Amino acid sequence: MKHFTSISDINDLDGLVEKALAFKKDAFQPTIASGKKVGLIFLNPSLRTRLSSQIAAQNLGAEAIVLDIGKDGWALEFEDGAVMNGNKAEHIREAAGVMGRYFDVLGIRTFPELKDKDTDYEELLLNAFLNHAGIPVVSLESATRHPLQSLADLMTMKEHWSETRKPKVVLTWAPHVKALPQAVANSFTEWMIAAEMDLTITNPAGYDLAPEFRKDVHVNHNQMEALADADFVYVKNWSSYEQYGQVLSQDDTWTFGNGHLSVTNKAKVMHCLPVRRGLVIKDEVLDGPNAIHLDQSENRVYSAQAVLSELLK
Ligand code: CP
Repeated sequence: MKHFTSISDINDLDGLVEKALAFKKDAFQPTIASGKKVGLIFLNPSLRTRLSSQIAAQNLGAEAIVLDIGKDGWALEFEDGAVMNGNKAEHIREAAGVMGRYFDVLGIRTFPELKDKDTDYEELLLNAFLNHAGIPVVSLESATRHPLQSLADLMTMKEHWSETRKPKVVLTWAPHVKALPQAVANSFTEWMIAAEMDLTITNPAGYDLAPEFRKDVHVNHNQMEALADADFVYVKNWSSYEQYGQVLSQDDTWTFGNGHLSVTNKAKVMHCLPVRRGLVIKDEVLDGPNAIHLDQSENRVYSAQAVLSELLK
């Protein structure tokens, strides 16, 4: 594995999940990356990704250095050929090039602007780091994907599933007051397809994910029908892809509660966090026995450890 930015960077998906599960049993292995340095660059806020990546690096014996580049670094220019006579002090070519000299692996978090579909889906910022850092790059969530989250999600599902049949997995949209990226939903879909899960997506009309992510996954605009007999339900808001970045619905009948759970096969309920209680998922579910969102968050450490150990070896 040269980089970790999407499912297509992975040669052996099962092997990577097994590796993460093994790290959960025996996390502290400081000889694996002793003396190595991991740069974690954030253009956007984070709780889980930031802390879990730091802990993962430390468990492997590496030093993790975090830079909130939007706050603490120079304002960055990403456009090639720009005459930098505005307020951008440093070009990404130099910034990424310098960080490539300091670190052994570079993690980068960027969010989409949700204004122009093509700009966001081109992954300009992530690609700039890939092109100019000269070292392995890990996506800590990009404009269109969140692969570290998806690895932790798949790992968590393996922990909670012991039957021989494939589980029925439903990704359901839920309301939100803000326009959120499609990254987690895109990535989860991509990973469920790669893991050959029986996936259904349910969302209101106007919220279908990009065709290149949903591929031929069954999309049902009737939430209760889609949820019937589900074994896992992943609840997540995303803004519209079709009417790009827009909030088209705040229909609270989509807020996931016990009524929704009752039509499933006692489904385990997942969310990547942060979650807005009462809006996305009701307290009765988050505080109930079916919720596994804290397991997902815990597993962010071991999934990051599996990825970093691959890139640092
Ligand atoms: N799930 C997730 O990536 O959380 P943070 O945004 O807090 O890192």
